[in-house]
Amino acid sequence: MGRKIIITGGAGYIGSHCVKRLGELGYEILTIDNLSSGNRWAVLYGKLEVVDLADNSRIEQIVKDFRPDAVIHFAASIVVPESVQNPVKYYKNNTENTLNLLKILVENNVDKFIFSSTAAVYGIPESVPVGENSPLMPINPYGRSKMMSEMILRDFSSAYGLRYISLRYFNVAGADPEGKIGQAYKESTHLITRALKCAKGDFPHLEIYGTDYPTRDGTCIRDYIHVTDLVDAHIVALEWLFQGGESEVFNCGYGHGYSVKEVIEVAKKVTGIDFKVIETERRPGDPPELVADCSKIKSKLNWTPQYDDLEFIIKTAWDWERKISFPSSQ
Ligand code: UFG
Repeated sequence: MGRKIIITGGAGYIGSHCVKRLGELGYEILTIDNLSSGNRWAVLYGKLEVVDLADNSRIEQIVKDFRPDAVIHFAASIVVPESVQNPVKYYKNNTENTLNLLKILVENNVDKFIFSSTAAVYGIPESVPVGENSPLMPINPYGRSKMMSEMILRDFSSAYGLRYISLRYFNVAGADPEGKIGQAYKESTHLITRALKCAKGDFPHLEIYGTDYPTRDGTCIRDYIHVTDLVDAHIVALEWLFQGGESEVFNCGYGHGYSVKEVIEVAKKVTGIDFKVIETERRPGDPPELVADCSKIKSKLNWTPQYDDLEFIIKTAWDWERKISFPSSQ
Protein backbone atom coordinates (compact mmCIF):
# COMPACT_ATOMS: atom_id res chain seq x y z
CA MET A 1 0.00 0.00 0.00
CA GLY A 2 1.33 3.42 -0.95
CA ARG A 3 1.59 6.45 1.24
CA LYS A 4 -1.71 8.01 2.20
CA ILE A 5 -2.39 11.55 1.06
CA ILE A 6 -5.42 13.77 1.61
CA ILE A 7 -5.92 16.25 -1.22
CA THR A 8 -8.31 19.10 -0.53
CA GLY A 9 -9.72 20.64 -3.69
CA GLY A 10 -8.80 17.47 -5.60
CA ALA A 11 -11.81 17.88 -7.90
CA GLY A 12 -10.62 21.30 -9.09
CA TYR A 13 -8.31 22.30 -11.92
CA ILE A 14 -4.86 21.89 -10.37
CA GLY A 15 -5.98 19.46 -7.66
CA SER A 16 -7.39 16.96 -10.17
CA HIS A 17 -4.11 16.94 -12.12
CA CYS A 18 -2.31 16.23 -8.84
CA VAL A 19 -4.70 13.39 -7.97
CA LYS A 20 -4.02 11.84 -11.39
CA ARG A 21 -0.24 12.02 -11.02
CA LEU A 22 -0.19 10.72 -7.44
CA GLY A 23 -2.60 7.94 -8.44
CA GLU A 24 -0.29 6.91 -11.28
CA LEU A 25 2.61 6.85 -8.83
CA GLY A 26 0.75 4.49 -6.48
CA TYR A 27 -0.13 6.83 -3.62
CA GLU A 28 -3.36 6.14 -1.77
CA ILE A 29 -5.53 9.22 -2.17
CA LEU A 30 -8.53 10.70 -0.49
CA THR A 31 -9.96 13.85 -2.05
CA ILE A 32 -11.96 16.33 -0.01
CA ASP A 33 -13.95 18.76 -2.17
CA ASN A 34 -17.27 20.61 -1.79
CA LEU A 35 -17.69 20.62 -5.61
CA SER A 36 -18.34 24.37 -5.59
CA SER A 37 -16.08 24.72 -8.60
CA GLY A 38 -14.69 21.20 -8.93
CA ASN A 39 -16.16 18.22 -10.75
CA ARG A 40 -16.78 14.67 -9.61
CA TRP A 41 -15.61 13.26 -12.97
CA ALA A 42 -12.24 14.97 -12.60
CA VAL A 43 -11.20 12.79 -9.64
CA LEU A 44 -9.57 9.89 -11.47
CA TYR A 45 -8.05 8.05 -8.48
CA GLY A 46 -8.96 7.25 -4.89
CA LYS A 47 -12.01 8.20 -2.93
CA LEU A 48 -13.91 11.50 -3.03
CA GLU A 49 -15.55 12.90 0.11
CA VAL A 50 -17.94 15.69 -0.81
CA VAL A 51 -17.65 17.94 2.20
CA ASP A 52 -16.97 21.59 2.91
CA LEU A 53 -13.75 22.38 4.76
CA ALA A 54 -15.78 24.58 7.12
CA ASP A 55 -17.45 21.40 8.43
CA ASN A 56 -14.81 20.82 11.11
CA SER A 57 -16.39 17.80 12.75
CA ARG A 58 -16.63 15.87 9.48
CA ILE A 59 -13.13 16.89 8.45
CA GLU A 60 -11.82 15.72 11.81
CA GLN A 61 -13.58 12.37 11.44
CA ILE A 62 -12.16 11.91 7.92
CA VAL A 63 -8.63 12.64 9.18
CA LYS A 64 -9.05 10.22 12.10
CA ASP A 65 -10.42 7.45 9.85
CA PHE A 66 -8.00 7.84 6.92
CA ARG A 67 -4.88 8.73 8.94
CA PRO A 68 -2.98 10.48 6.14
CA ASP A 69 0.81 10.65 5.99
CA ALA A 70 0.55 14.11 4.41
CA VAL A 71 -1.99 16.64 3.21
CA ILE A 72 -1.92 18.74 0.03
CA HIS A 73 -4.22 21.72 0.41
CA PHE A 74 -5.55 23.12 -2.88
CA ALA A 75 -9.11 24.02 -1.84
CA ALA A 76 -9.54 27.80 -2.00
CA SER A 77 -11.38 30.65 -3.63
CA ILE A 78 -9.16 32.17 -6.33
CA VAL A 79 -10.87 35.00 -8.22
CA VAL A 80 -9.09 38.26 -7.45
CA PRO A 81 -11.90 40.76 -8.33
CA GLU A 82 -14.38 38.66 -6.35
CA SER A 83 -12.07 38.87 -3.33
CA VAL A 84 -12.28 42.66 -3.50
CA GLN A 85 -16.11 42.54 -3.56
CA ASN A 86 -16.46 39.79 -0.99
CA PRO A 87 -13.45 39.61 1.34
CA VAL A 88 -15.41 37.63 3.95
CA LYS A 89 -15.58 34.71 1.53
CA TYR A 90 -11.81 34.81 1.00
CA TYR A 91 -10.78 35.13 4.63
CA LYS A 92 -13.21 32.33 5.53
CA ASN A 93 -12.52 29.89 2.68
CA ASN A 94 -8.81 30.54 2.47
CA THR A 95 -7.49 31.70 5.84
CA GLU A 96 -10.01 30.39 8.38
CA ASN A 97 -10.46 27.01 6.70
CA THR A 98 -6.69 26.57 6.46
CA LEU A 99 -6.30 27.42 10.15
CA ASN A 100 -9.00 24.93 11.17
CA LEU A 101 -7.60 22.22 8.93
CA LEU A 102 -4.11 22.72 10.35
CA LYS A 103 -5.44 22.58 13.91
CA ILE A 104 -7.12 19.24 13.18
CA LEU A 105 -3.96 17.91 11.53
CA VAL A 106 -1.57 18.78 14.36
CA GLU A 107 -4.03 17.39 16.91
CA ASN A 108 -4.01 14.13 14.97
CA ASN A 109 -0.23 13.98 14.50
CA VAL A 110 -0.23 14.73 10.77
CA ASP A 111 2.96 16.72 10.35
CA LYS A 112 3.49 17.06 6.58
CA PHE A 113 1.63 19.71 4.61
CA ILE A 114 1.84 21.22 1.14
CA PHE A 115 0.17 24.57 0.62
CA SER A 116 -1.03 26.24 -2.57
CA SER A 117 0.16 29.80 -2.30
CA THR A 118 0.34 32.38 -5.04
CA ALA A 119 2.50 35.03 -6.66
CA ALA A 120 -0.29 37.40 -5.58
CA VAL A 121 1.43 37.56 -2.16
CA TYR A 122 4.12 39.77 -3.75
CA GLY A 123 1.67 42.42 -4.95
CA ILE A 124 3.47 44.71 -7.37
CA PRO A 125 7.07 43.54 -7.06
CA GLU A 126 9.88 46.08 -6.86
CA SER A 127 11.92 44.07 -9.34
CA VAL A 128 11.56 40.99 -11.54
CA PRO A 129 12.24 38.12 -11.58
CA VAL A 130 10.86 38.03 -8.06
CA GLY A 131 12.59 35.84 -5.48
CA GLU A 132 11.06 34.17 -2.42
CA ASN A 133 12.68 36.72 -0.11
CA SER A 134 11.06 39.70 -1.80
CA PRO A 135 8.71 41.64 0.50
CA LEU A 136 5.15 40.35 0.72
CA MET A 137 2.85 43.23 -0.14
CA PRO A 138 -0.35 41.78 -1.58
CA ILE A 139 -2.71 44.31 -3.12
CA ASN A 140 -6.00 42.44 -2.80
CA PRO A 141 -7.84 40.27 -0.23
CA TYR A 142 -7.07 37.11 -2.21
CA GLY A 143 -3.33 37.69 -1.88
CA ARG A 144 -3.69 38.72 1.77
CA SER A 145 -5.78 35.63 2.60
CA LYS A 146 -2.95 33.43 1.25
CA MET A 147 -0.21 35.48 2.91
CA MET A 148 -1.95 35.08 6.28
CA SER A 149 -2.14 31.32 5.74
CA GLU A 150 1.61 31.31 5.10
CA MET A 151 2.14 33.15 8.41
CA ILE A 152 -0.03 30.61 10.23
CA LEU A 153 2.05 27.83 8.69
CA ARG A 154 5.25 29.41 9.94
CA ASP A 155 3.86 29.69 13.46
CA PHE A 156 2.51 26.13 13.44
CA SER A 157 5.87 24.92 12.23
CA SER A 158 7.74 26.46 15.17
CA ALA A 159 5.08 25.73 17.80
CA TYR A 160 3.94 22.22 16.81
CA GLY A 161 6.68 20.81 14.61
CA LEU A 162 4.54 20.87 11.47
CA ARG A 163 6.70 20.61 8.35
CA TYR A 164 5.30 22.36 5.29
CA ILE A 165 6.13 23.47 1.80
CA SER A 166 4.40 26.56 0.51
CA LEU A 167 4.37 26.76 -3.29
CA ARG A 168 3.78 30.20 -4.76
CA TYR A 169 2.16 29.58 -8.13
CA PHE A 170 2.62 32.01 -10.97
CA ASN A 171 0.18 31.77 -13.92
CA VAL A 172 -0.93 28.17 -14.20
CA ALA A 173 -2.25 27.06 -17.58
CA GLY A 174 -2.58 24.11 -19.94
CA ALA A 175 -4.15 20.71 -19.42
CA ASP A 176 -3.26 17.06 -18.94
CA PRO A 177 -1.26 16.12 -22.09
CA GLU A 178 -3.25 12.84 -22.21
CA GLY A 179 -6.43 14.91 -22.48
CA LYS A 180 -8.29 13.28 -19.60
CA ILE A 181 -8.76 16.42 -17.51
CA GLY A 182 -8.32 20.18 -17.80
CA GLN A 183 -9.69 23.47 -16.58
CA ALA A 184 -13.47 23.37 -16.41
CA TYR A 185 -14.79 26.67 -15.18
CA LYS A 186 -17.53 28.01 -17.37
CA GLU A 187 -16.76 31.66 -16.67
CA SER A 188 -12.99 31.46 -16.53
CA THR A 189 -11.40 34.88 -16.44
CA HIS A 190 -7.86 33.67 -17.11
CA LEU A 191 -6.20 34.94 -20.26
CA ILE A 192 -5.35 31.65 -22.00
CA THR A 193 -8.69 29.99 -21.28
CA ARG A 194 -10.54 33.13 -22.23
CA ALA A 195 -8.64 33.43 -25.52
CA LEU A 196 -9.42 29.81 -26.38
CA LYS A 197 -13.09 30.28 -25.55
CA CYS A 198 -13.07 33.24 -27.96
CA ALA A 199 -11.47 31.02 -30.61
CA LYS A 200 -14.23 28.49 -29.95
CA GLY A 201 -16.90 31.15 -30.36
CA ASP A 202 -18.13 31.16 -26.74
CA PHE A 203 -17.39 34.90 -26.50
CA PRO A 204 -17.57 37.45 -29.34
CA HIS A 205 -14.16 38.96 -28.64
CA LEU A 206 -11.19 39.03 -26.28
CA GLU A 207 -10.41 42.21 -24.38
CA ILE A 208 -6.82 43.28 -23.72
CA TYR A 209 -6.81 45.04 -20.38
CA GLY A 210 -4.40 47.90 -20.93
CA THR A 211 -1.80 48.60 -23.61
CA ASP A 212 0.10 51.40 -21.85
CA TYR A 213 2.14 49.41 -19.36
CA PRO A 214 5.91 49.96 -19.18
CA THR A 215 6.63 46.66 -20.95
CA ARG A 216 8.04 45.72 -24.38
CA ASP A 217 4.66 46.00 -26.16
CA GLY A 218 2.63 47.87 -23.53
CA THR A 219 0.71 44.80 -22.27
CA CYS A 220 1.26 42.90 -19.00
CA ILE A 221 3.86 40.16 -18.78
CA ARG A 222 3.23 36.89 -16.91
CA ASP A 223 5.12 33.68 -16.25
CA TYR A 224 2.86 30.87 -17.57
CA ILE A 225 3.56 27.43 -16.10
CA HIS A 226 2.09 24.15 -17.39
CA VAL A 227 -0.15 22.49 -14.82
CA THR A 228 1.72 19.17 -15.12
CA ASP A 229 5.05 20.82 -14.25
CA LEU A 230 3.35 22.53 -11.32
CA VAL A 231 2.03 19.16 -10.13
CA ASP A 232 5.57 17.76 -10.38
CA ALA A 233 6.68 20.53 -8.03
CA HIS A 234 4.18 19.12 -5.51
CA ILE A 235 5.56 15.61 -5.98
CA VAL A 236 9.16 16.67 -5.34
CA ALA A 237 8.00 18.79 -2.39
CA LEU A 238 6.17 15.80 -0.94
CA GLU A 239 9.25 13.61 -1.31
CA TRP A 240 11.35 16.32 0.34
CA LEU A 241 9.08 16.22 3.39
CA PHE A 242 9.04 12.40 3.45
CA GLN A 243 12.84 12.45 3.45
CA GLY A 244 12.83 14.69 6.53
CA GLY A 245 13.37 18.04 4.79
CA GLU A 246 12.55 21.22 6.69
CA SER A 247 9.80 23.71 5.91
CA GLU A 248 10.37 25.86 2.82
CA VAL A 249 8.72 28.33 0.47
CA PHE A 250 9.23 28.02 -3.30
CA ASN A 251 8.18 30.00 -6.35
CA CYS A 252 6.69 27.93 -9.16
CA GLY A 253 7.19 29.45 -12.60
CA TYR A 254 9.68 29.14 -15.46
CA GLY A 255 11.58 32.38 -14.93
CA HIS A 256 10.51 34.15 -18.10
CA GLY A 257 7.34 35.81 -19.21
CA TYR A 258 5.07 36.53 -22.17
CA SER A 259 3.03 39.63 -22.79
CA VAL A 260 -0.74 39.49 -23.29
CA LYS A 261 -0.22 40.26 -26.99
CA GLU A 262 2.33 37.46 -27.31
CA VAL A 263 -0.05 34.98 -25.69
CA ILE A 264 -2.82 36.03 -28.08
CA GLU A 265 -0.52 35.58 -31.07
CA VAL A 266 0.39 32.04 -29.99
CA ALA A 267 -3.28 31.24 -29.26
CA LYS A 268 -4.20 32.34 -32.79
CA LYS A 269 -1.39 30.25 -34.26
CA VAL A 270 -2.27 27.11 -32.28
CA THR A 271 -6.01 27.33 -32.99
CA GLY A 272 -5.68 28.63 -36.54
CA ILE A 273 -8.51 31.06 -35.70
CA ASP A 274 -8.13 34.81 -36.02
CA PHE A 275 -10.58 35.69 -33.21
CA LYS A 276 -11.50 39.31 -32.58
CA VAL A 277 -9.40 41.27 -30.05
CA ILE A 278 -10.32 44.65 -28.53
CA GLU A 279 -7.96 46.92 -26.60
CA THR A 280 -9.60 48.30 -23.45
CA GLU A 281 -8.73 49.99 -20.16
CA ARG A 282 -6.41 48.54 -17.54
CA ARG A 283 -7.92 46.07 -15.10
CA PRO A 284 -7.40 47.34 -11.55
CA GLY A 285 -4.70 45.59 -9.54
CA ASP A 286 -2.68 44.11 -12.42
CA PRO A 287 1.09 44.32 -11.88
CA PRO A 288 2.87 45.17 -15.16
CA GLU A 289 5.26 42.22 -14.92
CA LEU A 290 5.22 39.11 -12.77
CA VAL A 291 8.01 36.62 -13.43
CA ALA A 292 9.37 34.04 -11.00
CA ASP A 293 12.91 33.57 -9.90
CA CYS A 294 12.59 29.78 -9.82
CA SER A 295 16.22 28.93 -9.09
CA LYS A 296 15.51 27.84 -5.51
CA ILE A 297 13.11 24.99 -6.32
CA LYS A 298 15.37 23.83 -9.16
CA SER A 299 18.48 23.65 -7.01
CA LYS A 300 16.98 22.54 -3.70
CA LEU A 301 14.30 20.07 -4.86
CA ASN A 302 15.84 19.25 -8.22
CA TRP A 303 12.57 20.22 -9.93
CA THR A 304 12.97 19.77 -13.67
CA PRO A 305 10.15 21.20 -15.75
CA GLN A 306 9.28 19.44 -19.01
CA TYR A 307 6.80 21.75 -20.70
CA ASP A 308 8.42 25.19 -20.71
CA ASP A 309 6.91 25.99 -24.11
CA LEU A 310 3.97 28.39 -24.48
CA GLU A 311 2.85 26.74 -27.70
CA PHE A 312 2.63 23.36 -25.99
CA ILE A 313 0.83 24.85 -22.98
CA ILE A 314 -1.78 26.45 -25.21
CA LYS A 315 -2.08 23.35 -27.40
CA THR A 316 -2.93 21.11 -24.43
CA ALA A 317 -5.46 23.70 -23.21
CA TRP A 318 -6.96 23.91 -26.72
CA ASP A 319 -7.23 20.12 -27.11
CA TRP A 320 -9.10 20.05 -23.80
CA GLU A 321 -11.25 23.08 -24.58
CA ARG A 322 -12.46 21.48 -27.81
CA LYS A 323 -13.30 18.28 -25.98
CA ILE A 324 -15.62 19.75 -23.36
CA SER A 325 -18.89 21.06 -24.80
CA PHE A 326 -19.37 22.25 -21.36
CA PRO A 327 -19.62 19.68 -18.65
CA SER A 328 -22.26 20.36 -16.06
CA SER A 329 -20.94 21.69 -12.79
CA GLN A 330 -21.02 18.27 -11.12
N1 UFG B 1 -6.02 39.63 -19.42
C1 UFG B 1 -6.55 40.29 -20.50
N2 UFG B 1 -7.76 39.90 -20.97
C2 UFG B 1 -8.48 38.87 -20.42
C3 UFG B 1 -7.93 38.19 -19.31
C4 UFG B 1 -6.69 38.60 -18.83
O1 UFG B 1 -5.95 41.21 -21.04
O2 UFG B 1 -9.60 38.57 -20.89
C5 UFG B 1 -4.68 40.02 -18.92
C6 UFG B 1 -4.71 40.48 -17.48
O3 UFG B 1 -5.01 41.84 -17.39
C7 UFG B 1 -3.28 40.14 -17.04
C8 UFG B 1 -2.93 38.90 -17.87
O4 UFG B 1 -3.86 38.89 -18.95
O5 UFG B 1 -2.43 41.16 -17.40
C9 UFG B 1 -3.10 37.61 -17.08
O6 UFG B 1 -4.36 37.63 -16.45
P1 UFG B 1 -5.02 36.36 -15.76
O7 UFG B 1 -6.38 36.77 -15.30
O8 UFG B 1 -4.92 35.19 -16.66
O9 UFG B 1 -4.07 36.05 -14.52
P2 UFG B 1 -3.54 37.03 -13.38
O10 UFG B 1 -2.10 37.29 -13.67
O11 UFG B 1 -4.39 38.19 -13.17
O12 UFG B 1 -3.73 36.15 -12.06
C10 UFG B 1 -3.32 34.82 -11.94
C11 UFG B 1 -4.25 34.09 -11.01
C12 UFG B 1 -4.16 34.64 -9.64
C13 UFG B 1 -2.75 34.67 -9.18
C14 UFG B 1 -1.87 35.37 -10.18
C15 UFG B 1 -0.46 35.26 -9.76
O13 UFG B 1 -5.58 34.21 -11.47
O14 UFG B 1 -4.92 33.81 -8.78
O15 UFG B 1 -2.03 34.79 -11.45
O16 UFG B 1 0.40 35.50 -10.80
F1 UFG B 1 -2.67 35.32 -8.02
